[in-house]
Amino acid sequence: MIFSELLIDWYEQNRRSLPWRDIRDPYRIWLSEIILQQTRVNQGLPYYERFLERFPTVRHLASASEEEVLRCWQGLGYYSRARNLHAAAKIIHERHKDVFPGTYEEIRALPGIGPYTAAAIGSFAFDLCHPVVDGNVIRFICRLDGIYEPANSAVCRKKIGELLSGRIDCARPGTFNQAVMEFGALACTPQSPLCSQGSGACPFGNVCHAFAHGATDILPVKEKKKSLPVCHLHYLLVYGKDDTVWLRKRGYDDLWRGMYDLPVLPLSDEVPAVCEREDIVFLAHYSQNLSHRKLHFYFYRAEPDTPWVEKCLSEQAGCVEVKKNELERYAFPVSVRRFLKDLAIVGPNKLR
Ligand code: ADE
Repeated sequence: MIFSELLIDWYEQNRRSLPWRDIRDPYRIWLSEIILQQTRVNQGLPYYERFLERFPTVRHLASASEEEVLRCWQGLGYYSRARNLHAAAKIIHERHKDVFPGTYEEIRALPGIGPYTAAAIGSFAFDLCHPVVDGNVIRFICRLDGIYEPANSAVCRKKIGELLSGRIDCARPGTFNQAVMEFGALACTPQSPLCSQGSGACPFGNVCHAFAHGATDILPVKEKKKSLPVCHLHYLLVYGKDDTVWLRKRGYDDLWRGMYDLPVLPLSDEVPAVCEREDIVFLAHYSQNLSHRKLHFYFYRAEPDTPWVEKCLSEQAGCVEVKKNELERYAFPVSVRRFLKDLAIVGPNKLR
């Protein structure tokens, strides 16, 4: 049997039933793909459902405020994905009159849509014959074909794209793409691929380079990660009168633009550990890795009536006093939200 037949046979017998499969609505497919770039299927499901409940069509998403979109996304991280989703919805509304575009080039031209997402939406919704290359597919094909280029390199992606362009079944490209991803996700897994259960367990066992050469542990080749630059953020928790707390709306030129955090202690970003001062009380430390930076968050309690705190609140841009019981309305970076939740002034995130 040829590759696509073996693969699709395996898929039909082993596939998971997922709400974004066997549908043709490009909006839903798009949404699921963007969420799944950010998180695993199980964690992504409630976000997908909540997004669709709140924004059932691309028109609803286009007419929402960015703040509301960010609030629905909060907890997933990488907020530029949510901003791009919103920006693309507006383009579809304005330029395409609410009809999701149906060619690869038009889909690819939308903000936040790269070759992978365009191939996924194009094949699932419009039967366009473009192969998907995601992390699961890369692992599978590097092992199958003995590709030793670093898995995150452009050369490796290009090779895999070319190989799959020659193998994709253009009579059913959507099924082929779901199948190749599912095989990588469920069968050709990082730690214990099917072949570790013995010869014959994997339908590709007799043609797989890695199986023949005992190379499943070394393929795909991972390049050592560079250590990330470290950044320290020192935040003040300042309660106001009448059950309020001070927040800070982030500026429009930074990482978490449009989201809220807390006023910052006027220090350089460089202070590398807990700041010891008489007039503040250290409360907690959290750390978080972003794709390009490691962050440390330090939280301190400060008294509102102190002159330097008053000065700090009035001079820092974006400081606002909000009711504690209205904090659910604001979108926070993950570590700030975790801190507020641990303090029990924000209720549990409904998604977790
Ligand atoms: N990961 C990315 N896209 C997916 C899909 N359509 N189904 C399952 N997992 C995925």
